[in-house]
Amino acid sequence: MAHLGGNVLTWLGHATIHIQTAGGTSILIDPWFEGNPSSPKGYKLPEKIDLLLLTHGHDDHFHDAVKVAKQSKAKVVGIYELTSWMQGKGVDNISPMNYGGNLQFQDVRISMVEARHSSSIVDGDKAVYAGNPCGYVLAIEGAPVIYLAGDTSLFGDMQLFKELYAPAVAVLPIGDNFTMGPNHAALAAKYLGVKTVIPVHYGTFPALTGTPAELKTHLEGTGIAMAAPRPGESVE
Ligand code: NI
Ligand code: MN
Repeated sequence: MAHLGGNVLTWLGHATIHIQTAGGTSILIDPWFEGNPSSPKGYKLPEKIDLLLLTHGHDDHFHDAVKVAKQSKAKVVGIYELTSWMQGKGVDNISPMNYGGNLQFQDVRISMVEARHSSSIVDGDKAVYAGNPCGYVLAIEGAPVIYLAGDTSLFGDMQLFKELYAPAVAVLPIGDNFTMGPNHAALAAKYLGVKTVIPVHYGTFPALTGTPAELKTHLEGTGIAMAAPRPGESVE
């Protein structure tokens, strides 16, 4: 299992994640609760959310973003076009970023990195341009560095992320079809040089066929561990 140094990472189904840092910062990533088949039953989101990180505008990551942002008054971090759209919907506390940028917030240093995917927001009957999709690297005081890939294919610059950020834990999509599958995720983990992979973005819909069991098979002999919490479970 991963050792997160007193920080707690909870998988809330699909690509939704909550991280509570040892220093007291509450971080929510890609909130999708309403209509999410893999949302943990009976889970109650902490009232205090300090940071809301968004990887892209697709509904399975963004569905509850405006609602949570307004309720929590969290600082909303996303790529420029995405946060601008939210501002237009009345979300005031935004912190736009772009690839290669860093932001220090309390005990967390956030780096925005590229992801290979697409991004748009469903706004009424229109699909609105939402900028590029992204991933994040979180350097939390006292914790191993965590890379959150967002939705992406495998790409060679994950090797560069190893050099730039030295992540120890990677949260990777493994469902296939819309993102990389388990075999590519295993190679991503090698490129990143991480010790632990936490698989997400699988099993939610029939099209997402990749499984943690397959990932585990592909990680055999690499020395890289897999931590696969069930929805609502945490890695500490
Ligand atoms: Ni997507
Ligand atoms: Mn997705």
